[in-house]
Amino acid sequence: MNEGRKPYIAGNWKMNLDRAKALDLIKTIKGRLGDGNDREVAVFCPSVYLADVSAVAQGSPLGVGAQNLWFERDGAYTGELSSAMLREVGADRVLIGHSERRHVLLEPDDWMARKMRAALDGSLLPILCVGEKLEERKGNRTERVLKRQLEAGFSDIQAEEIRRVTIAYEPVWAIGTGETATPLQVGEVHKFIRRWVASRLGAEAGEAIRVLYGGSVNPGNVKALMSVPDVDGVLVGGASLKPDTFLPLIEFDR
Ligand code: 13P
Repeated sequence: MNEGRKPYIAGNWKMNLDRAKALDLIKTIKGRLGDGNDREVAVFCPSVYLADVSAVAQGSPLGVGAQNLWFERDGAYTGELSSAMLREVGADRVLIGHSERRHVLLEPDDWMARKMRAALDGSLLPILCVGEKLEERKGNRTERVLKRQLEAGFSDIQAEEIRRVTIAYEPVWAIGTGETATPLQVGEVHKFIRRWVASRLGAEAGEAIRVLYGGSVNPGNVKALMSVPDVDGVLVGGASLKPDTFLPLIEFDR
C-alpha cells in the first residue's frame, strides 16, 4: 500500500446469487460502509441486477459495476450490452478482460483496447484484469504474458486518463482454487506492472495507477497481501458473496 493511492476493495460476484440474496448483501455492505474517505469499495454484479443493486447503493460511496461490456455503441450484437446501457442502470465501473472472459469465453487481446476506450468514453471506470496461466508461470513466461495483455489493453489510453483506470493482477492458477500467490510473488509482479505503466505513460502515471491483486483472497490473507508495497487493493470472488467473509475484507485494518 502507498499513502497516495486509496485502497480499493472490490467484490466480483460472477454468475452467483439471486436477486433477493444480491439485495440482502448490498444492504448489509452499505450499512457497514464508512464515509469512503480512506478506502474505495465496489461490487461487480450480474448485469440483470444492476438497476436494483445500484438503487440500494445510491447515496453511499459504494461503487457498483458490470462484469463486462461490448465496445460498440449499438447495433446487431445479440446478447451484448453497451457502456451507455450499463450507465443507465446505475453502473459506474466495469471489469475488462477478466480471466474467465479471456479463457472460458475466449475473448481475444485485441478487444481489450476497444473495451477500455468504450468504458472511458462511456464514463465507466475500468479495471483491466491481467494474469498468467499455470503453465505460463512454470515456463517463466509470466512477464511476457502480462506485457502482451498490458500492451493490448493500454494501446489507446493516455497518461491523463490514468487516474480513472485500475489494473487487477489475477494469476489464473490462483482464481477459485484456494491457492493464493505469495506476497513475494505478488510483489514482484505488481512492481513489474507499475514499471511497465511508468515506461509506457510516464513516471507520474506509474506512481498513480492502482494495481489490485485477485485470486483466493480471504479474511485470513488480506492483511499480508495489502501490506505488499505495490498492492493497492484486492479483487475478490468467492469471499465477496457472504457478509461474514466480505465485511472483514472491506474493514481490513490498515
Ligand atoms: P476468487 O476470489 O474466488 O479466487 O476469484 C478471484 C476473481 O476472479 C475475482 O475477479
